[in-house]
Amino acid sequence: MYASVLERNWFALRRYQVPVLPEGAEPVRVLHISDVHLTPERHRLMSWIRCLDALEPDLVVNTGDSIASPQAVGPFLDSLGPLLERPGVFVYGSNDLYSPRPKNPLRYLWETSARANNRTVPDLPWAELGAGMAAAGWMDANNRRGRIKAGVLDIEVGGVHDSHRGRDRYEDIAGATDPAADLRLAVMHSPEPRVMDLFAADGYDLLLAGHTHGGQICLPLYGTLVTNCGLDRRRARGLHRHPQFPPAGGQGSGQADAQPWLHVSAGLGTSPWAPARLACRPEASLLTLVPRIG
Ligand SMILES: [Fe+2]
Repeated sequence: MYASVLERNWFALRRYQVPVLPEGAEPVRVLHISDVHLTPERHRLMSWIRCLDALEPDLVVNTGDSIASPQAVGPFLDSLGPLLERPGVFVYGSNDLYSPRPKNPLRYLWETSARANNRTVPDLPWAELGAGMAAAGWMDANNRRGRIKAGVLDIEVGGVHDSHRGRDRYEDIAGATDPAADLRLAVMHSPEPRVMDLFAADGYDLLLAGHTHGGQICLPLYGTLVTNCGLDRRRARGLHRHPQFPPAGGQGSGQADAQPWLHVSAGLGTSPWAPARLACRPEASLLTLVPRIG
């Protein structure tokens, strides 16, 4: 009862400061949302998302798994509301393509959901979802690279489609990033280490991902049980570095740090077939980007 009714609707706004900008740059606010898994009856969740515009973010990043029903595209776009008038970037998660199916909600404790079904033909209106965000001017970063403005920042963006179901095509966006950009931003749904290694090697400064749900069911004093991908438990949510430890040899190419920042969102929703959260509140994050230290 607590996990399915109370905590599942106890939305949290996380705030982080990320020292990732060039010296002298003005702070920039990035709102990171993920894993909304929206069904049309989740009115509290929709209202909460709509209120996030009051934070006045300079950029909104949606790392996927936005819908969980064919009827959710309109309500999802409505809940974004005025956020759609701001600069934005999005990628899909596999749950934007495939509708949720009943399953043992504890099954994820012993296996990932990558092979949870063998469907290959999407049955959710992912294209309509993407068209709605793109029509507002948000950048579709699914296996794409581009350039956006947020505040006064010139941001190079690279993104991949969901690696959890093998839709990532890093080869389509591979190549060193532009050291002349103010920020090099990588966007993906699943924080798969093999993909993040590629982003880090190409010089991205900040990696944003979702997918893990922060573990969704966590144990007090122990934390996340599983990440549902290759990421270690300690980085299942929050702000960390990738790779976790400094690589031998120190700095990477260009101006980029050899260890870009990684923010993993625990997300705002759950699968309708696993409607519970424990010691892992649903969340959105406001990342305030500030100049690098030193
Ligand atoms: Fe998800």
